[in-house]
Amino acid sequence: VALGLDVGTSGLKAVAVDARGVTLAEAGAAYPLYTPRPGWTEQNPADWLSAAASALRELSGCLEGHTPVALGLSGQMHGLVALDAHGEVIRPAPLWNDQRTAAAVAELEERVPRAELITRTGNPGVTGFQLPKLLWLRSEEPENFARTRHALLPKDYLGYALTGQMATEPSDASGVGALHLSRLEWDRDLLEALGLGCDLFPEVLPSSAIIGGLSARWAQATGLPRGLPVVAGAGDNAGAAVALGLSSRAAGVGSLSLGTSGVIFVPLDRPTPDPQGRVHLFAHADGGYHLLGVTLAAAGSLEWFRRSLAAHTSFETLILEAARVPPGAEGLSFVPYLAGERSPHLDPDLRGVLSGLSLAHGRGHIVRAILEGAAFALRDALEVMRPLAALHELLAVGGGARAEPWLRATGAILQVPLSRPTLEGSPARGAAILALVGGGVYPDLAAALAVTRPERVPLEADDPAAYLEARGRYLEASRWERERRRA
Ligand code: XUL
Repeated sequence: VALGLDVGTSGLKAVAVDARGVTLAEAGAAYPLYTPRPGWTEQNPADWLSAAASALRELSGCLEGHTPVALGLSGQMHGLVALDAHGEVIRPAPLWNDQRTAAAVAELEERVPRAELITRTGNPGVTGFQLPKLLWLRSEEPENFARTRHALLPKDYLGYALTGQMATEPSDASGVGALHLSRLEWDRDLLEALGLGCDLFPEVLPSSAIIGGLSARWAQATGLPRGLPVVAGAGDNAGAAVALGLSSRAAGVGSLSLGTSGVIFVPLDRPTPDPQGRVHLFAHADGGYHLLGVTLAAAGSLEWFRRSLAAHTSFETLILEAARVPPGAEGLSFVPYLAGERSPHLDPDLRGVLSGLSLAHGRGHIVRAILEGAAFALRDALEVMRPLAALHELLAVGGGARAEPWLRATGAILQVPLSRPTLEGSPARGAAILALVGGGVYPDLAAALAVTRPERVPLEADDPAAYLEARGRYLEASRWERERRRA
């Protein structure tokens, strides 16, 4: 068996898988998210460690005599864990969805032209990435910055705590904003232009490499073997893609995750960015690359509606009501920029739109418009990806993938066939599969994926023609909001 950990945004998940990648046991622990000011999101790295200790203790109790070969890491991308010369955490970690860095992104793009940033790192300045967080720290908290010797990503901080070794791997490191994407090394010239040193960042190892062994203290706290190899792992999106068997060598199959945010992941064998940087380009965990399109409030928009306007009615009831309304929601359109938007607009200050509302519309119409709006937002990201990557199938995952009517509409709106994987596409399981490789069960990830890749069951979609008029209305409402914001 191998173990995998996922340092998520709401909690930590730990799984044990067998050699076929099938989950044998899982455990989890939650921790708080702090929003000390509007637009700020932070967590205490110490909370991740206590959650890891309790989840691993629980998991090790379920192993029934199996000795794990290795433990793989995965987690939320982009966060900044700043450590001092003694390896102590300096301040709470700003997270991937933190929006405090608008001025730092402007500073970054002033010092390094946007086009050059995209060619070197695959992406322009993005408010959520780690690099602008460091620039923010330098200008807003100079004393803290002066003490900072190491900048780690969330899962890499956990790896350091478990083993005493600081390391990272390409999939998460490419979300810092300072990794040279074709060389997969820290971009010395870029960092020099910003007055930062490469030595702030840990060594970049392959995703299935062993970073170190579990320390005696952690072995005692968890009941796991001392010296258990800890494997570098992957950022959560690449980790989930490993669990789904998505490989950058077999182009054409990607994933669609309908969670709080909606995410399209498309593997690529070469680092070809969108010249305007409208979708993310990161390294995959298999030596290749992937595109990532993110709409920030997909199921998040529905949850907002449920909480604030639908008296916490169950998701199932709301989805049933939406299914009774015809495609296009009888003239109602919803643009889901409730939390600003990432792909393809990269603007944290955009806001949501509900347009075309009439006395004839009821709750089902609004829910239908929300579900369609999330899919139209994903289609906007997909349009940018199409010229860059082959794509003929998307595996639907995430909580929203249980809502059949939403999938039928999304398949029709994206005009890509959707299918459902037979195994869970979770980052923790992907990390455990990387641990099977690092632990020597498989010679490389390709060999592991050939065995662990889930089957795919095709899903039905609505008639795409039923959404053409609605897409026109959506695009107009989205354009209206972007013009309002520019004005
Ligand atoms: C990716 C991103 C999120 C986080 C969430 O760019 O910001 O998917 O990794 O965990």
